[in-house]
Amino acid sequence: MKTIVLGPDDTDQAAAFIRAGELVAFPTETVYGLGANALDAQAVSSIFAAKGRPQDNPLIVHCASEEQVLSLVGEVDPEARQLMKRFWPGPLTLVLPRTEVIPAVVSAGLDTVAVRVPDHPIARRLIESAGLPIAAPSANLSGRPSPTSAQHVLTDLDGRIKAVLDGGETGWGVESTVVDCTTRPFRLLRPGGATLEELQAVTDVVVDPGVYGELQPGSRPRSPGMKYRHYAPRAQVILVEGEDAGERIVSLGRELVSQGRKVGVMAPTEHLARYQEFITLPMGSLQHLQQISASLYRLLRQADDLGLEVLLVEGITEVGLGMAIMNRLRRAAGHHVHQGG
Ligand code: TXA
Ligand code: MG
Repeated sequence: MKTIVLGPDDTDQAAAFIRAGELVAFPTETVYGLGANALDAQAVSSIFAAKGRPQDNPLIVHCASEEQVLSLVGEVDPEARQLMKRFWPGPLTLVLPRTEVIPAVVSAGLDTVAVRVPDHPIARRLIESAGLPIAAPSANLSGRPSPTSAQHVLTDLDGRIKAVLDGGETGWGVESTVVDCTTRPFRLLRPGGATLEELQAVTDVVVDPGVYGELQPGSRPRSPGMKYRHYAPRAQVILVEGEDAGERIVSLGRELVSQGRKVGVMAPTEHLARYQEFITLPMGSLQHLQQISASLYRLLRQADDLGLEVLLVEGITEVGLGMAIMNRLRRAAGHHVHQGG
């Protein structure tokens, strides 16, 4: 199969593919999604095959409006309705009770379903034109960094999917925040564009320990996606945190270079001067965390294009969007983190 590249005005064509049971990648405000008709179990199954995604990792259903969401799920708590009002359209996914309208394969057999209303004109037009909810994980091969451009989608999935709608680069660059609204208090399962602080201003939300990689051995994670290594480039990622991170990155980098390894350093733009002797990947400014989130996955892919063997990353403070950024970096590092003084 040759993957067709569609432009921003081709949403009707893309919607026809979706209605015909085909897979179409499309931009959202977070990352590109790989969409299929959420009501068609066979189309949804082909998402797992195209991505090489484990069968037990459930998908997010994308809708054009809150009303469409409410037509697909069971009873919704009033405080979950408040979250919808505050954050939709936008980078927040809510886990709600599933009804039999949604095929079990979408939720990997769970009795809940994750839903969101994306804030991207192309995504909205696609869903409206299809007249269907669209199930979509991030449009990467399983285990690779999520795609923030149509080119990233093609790098991973060219020939495996019907089409990609090219809408340029995505704005947030990290995936949506996932909140489980079927338990009390609500649980943050994945940090993302909607910050914990913003959520807590609306209702009580606790952070699931799985967010920090603290899964009890043998226990079943609430968000199955959390147990997989993810977001990983081929280079070994070492995340360096703490006040003397700069000095430690330089000494670690020199040691690795002396062993003949190809080393890159990814750091906030303000701190790049420290690392002149290495290949540097500028993350964006600490004053504008969305610059950092928007460039994160592109830089992880770039590390591969540069043939880096080791990528040393300077950690940032975990407030606001910093929580999502650090969560992705920890997972890219396989939770191997250098903690300093
Ligand atoms: O921003 C995003 O959310 C992007 C764009 C395309 O919308 N999508 C995305 O999908 O990141 P994916 O499949 O890569 O991540 C979905 C996450 C996984 O961690 C999955 O385990 C979790 O949501 N999830 C989905 N359904 C769930 C459910 N019923 N209960 C708990 N977690 C669920
Ligand atoms: Mg993903």
